Amino acid sequence: TAESAVPEQMLGFTAVAASSGDAVVVPAGYVATAFLPWGEPINAQAPAWKPDASNTAADQEQQVGDNHDGIHYFGFNAAGNGPGDRSDEGLLVFNHEYINPEYFYAPDTDAQDWRLPFTLEKARKGQAGHGVTVAHIRRKADGSWEHVKNSPYNRRIHGNTPIAIQGPAAGHPLMKTAADPTGTEVLGTLNNCGNGWTPWGTYLTCEENFNGYFGWNGEHTQTVLEKRYGITQDGFGYLWHTVDSRFDVNANPNEPHRFGWIVEIDPFSPTSKPVKRTALGRFKHENAALSIAPNGKVVVYMGCDERNEYIYKFVSSGTFDAANPYSAANRRLLEEGTLYVARFDAGATPADKMGTGVWIPLLPSTVGVDGRALRNNPHFAASSDAEVRALILIKARQAADAVGATMMDRPEWVAVNPKNPGNVYVTLTNNSRRGGTTSNSPDGTTTAGSARPPVDEANPRANNVWGHIIRWTEAGNDPTATTFNWDIFVLAGQPSVVGERAPSSNINANNLFNSPDGLAFDSFGRLWIQTDGSFSNSGDYAGMGNNQMLAADPTTKEIRRFLVGPSGCEVTGVTWTPDRKTMFVNIQHPGELGSHPNRPKNPDGSTFSDNQIARNPTAFSQWPNAGQRPRSATVVVRRLDGGVIGG
Ligand code: FEO
Ligand code: CA
Ligand code: CA
Ligand code: CA
Repeated sequence: TAESAVPEQMLGFTAVAASSGDAVVVPAGYVATAFLPWGEPINAQAPAWKPDASNTAADQEQQVGDNHDGIHYFGFNAAGNGPGDRSDEGLLVFNHEYINPEYFYAPDTDAQDWRLPFTLEKARKGQAGHGVTVAHIRRKADGSWEHVKNSPYNRRIHGNTPIAIQGPAAGHPLMKTAADPTGTEVLGTLNNCGNGWTPWGTYLTCEENFNGYFGWNGEHTQTVLEKRYGITQDGFGYLWHTVDSRFDVNANPNEPHRFGWIVEIDPFSPTSKPVKRTALGRFKHENAALSIAPNGKVVVYMGCDERNEYIYKFVSSGTFDAANPYSAANRRLLEEGTLYVARFDAGATPADKMGTGVWIPLLPSTVGVDGRALRNNPHFAASSDAEVRALILIKARQAADAVGATMMDRPEWVAVNPKNPGNVYVTLTNNSRRGGTTSNSPDGTTTAGSARPPVDEANPRANNVWGHIIRWTEAGNDPTATTFNWDIFVLAGQPSVVGERAPSSNINANNLFNSPDGLAFDSFGRLWIQTDGSFSNSGDYAGMGNNQMLAADPTTKEIRRFLVGPSGCEVTGVTWTPDRKTMFVNIQHPGELGSHPNRPKNPDGSTFSDNQIARNPTAFSQWPNAGQRPRSATVVVRRLDGGVIGG
């Protein structure tokens, strides 16, 4: 055929222009279709989505959640009863990071705020809008995809689903609550941001800004640990703590310790209980990128997304049995291992934006920058090394502070190059608190929130408004190595800007973007970059348009825009069928107004409040359905000629 006569290109598509419209834009020859939006019934029995947002909490538990994020396609095997490599039928598993209350709730009356009255029913509906969806999907004869609504694999995991707590921190006193006196089971997973997937057929969902759901009623003095993880009186303003005591830290001081983990889910076992894997540490997890080392160890790379936080990796104790990928032993590989944190050094040549690095193990015996071993640091004081280890994992950020890890410009997604398991990329999305003189201190007195570190070679711009992507190669290309070499793949920005703020030379007028966030390689070795930044299209952001997705050649560093999202959205999460002929991309929070310059105005010139948006949900974005409130959704991207995506 004509298709097979043309070899696959690294960037074999025509770039699309920046745009600020209310639609998904893809290159000529491609088609993009919204699929499985917020509120879609999860199976044939589930209630229909109500366009006025009047569905109940019980309804939402049986419907696709809100704010789609990380995603993975798991093909079925030939028998259709387990994981395999089929590109025509599989399980699409995806995260629901948060909710947009201004679109998620129906105001009770035209005069009322979504907050009034705030009830346990509303909190439960919000909790049900979070978590993970497992959807059985099938390709039709015309190449489009359908949801198999009568399949037993369809499943929602949400903010009240029972989840096991496993690993070194399970059962620690800080993990115990009145409802769970053993510290081994928690209700729910929240703020499910990026994801990972394993070669043994499981999905990893990553809990990011869990702090925002907690608050306190009455008097409370914030502890050092609460401060380090950002637990505040009112959190995101979701009000759950006012009606559900689980989220009131005065009533349940340990409940926040049970969030901020990576959760492993077996999508092929619909009744299986998800598991929080505490060996991978507790922080604001973005995603989880797996690499199998030559010696069989499983390495998981992870970023903690907040200004001036760290990059971590987990190295398993056990080894992967490649001959029996779905073996019971492989499925236990995330139970035990060593957590490391990264330090990026300048290397032999100053100011060349390249350098060397060290992975510092977070163990009781590791000596911090203050000269004390972690077992002698008061944050981790305990009677046994086993308990010191549990504390190091629960307070991973403080352990990283103590050992002098490098504060980064907001680590978002990590991606491993499939052509070299020791070659790893991470997005550093932006950082408004870079360019000062204060760093996180090992005693917890100065921490994220007040720190403003100086520029360094790996984070070279003060007030980094556009973000960058850094990459490293582990010594000997071995993911378990404890040293690496790094360089900067791209500094985003404006080509007209020179000097300290200048972008790298692979940025030009045709590929402007800001705030790289989602990041993934396809199996061909193409690097896909997704953005979550300013869509004002003016000032520093002129010419960038809406949030978007670009493809890059990791060798030449060429970057080309592939997709632009609708108004107000972020583009986050991507996966492919094994044949690379279908790509699934998530469009998150279309219509989220934030500081958008086109935010609807009242006749007196004042901007719309959240309450006014709730009453006028089609005032701005109406994606994906004209005349309806905006809904996060997956987008199915195909080529009209049936070819591979991007090639
Ligand atoms: Fe959920 Fe850091 O993005
Ligand atoms: Ca250097
Ligand atoms: Ca993100
Ligand atoms: Ca982001």
